[in-house]
Amino acid sequence: MLKAKIAVLVSGGGTNLEALLQAQENDTIHSGEIVLTATRNPNAYALTRAKNHGVETLCLPKSQYDQIAFEDKLNDALTARNVDLIVLAGFLSILSADFVSQWADRIVNIHPSLIPAFCGKGFYGLKVHEAALQRGVKVTGATVHLVNEIPDGGRILKQKAIDILPDDTAETLQKRVMEQAEWVLLPEAVEELSEEIALEKGNTDD
Ligand code: GRF
Repeated sequence: MLKAKIAVLVSGGGTNLEALLQAQENDTIHSGEIVLTATRNPNAYALTRAKNHGVETLCLPKSQYDQIAFEDKLNDALTARNVDLIVLAGFLSILSADFVSQWADRIVNIHPSLIPAFCGKGFYGLKVHEAALQRGVKVTGATVHLVNEIPDGGRILKQKAIDILPDDTAETLQKRVMEQAEWVLLPEAVEELSEEIALEKGNTDD
């Protein structure tokens, strides 16, 4: 069967990218293939991770490409590689409504809380976990969702809850949410979406 072609957009450390690459190598992801990693941050360690796994990288720095130029170049690169699915794995820029509508139901994001709690504009990285601790919730987690024009507002695909422990700091909570929820949920969701796309591709190519 034809595999879905996947591009992963990153901004930082890339541990979710690493989880996807490992899932591909151990066959958890077998219906899709990561063909490109793209970023707007030339210093993203995620780029090194991609290269270590032999995945092509594309860097379109914020200093050189404004939002429109970035999305144009990205679209060209995605089209040239026949990409079917875009994964936002710690990608900190917000994509325009125009770009998102061109890729309707084909962009997926991981967010480190149980949406609709602690999400939307301004909720990224440690800020999400700080907000959860400050509010005093006893359970948080991670959410994988499709991306639409509302930040963190698209259809929810998967969620996993993580208990908050009395001694948690934002850092310990972030680590547990990543290890026990994000790195599990994202590869699962990517495989499921890839399988659907691969089936569609198989049908249209017959
Ligand atoms: C993760 O917490 C992810 O949920 C959020 O940004 C963080 C990225 O971490 N969207 P990494 O770059 O994958 O290590």
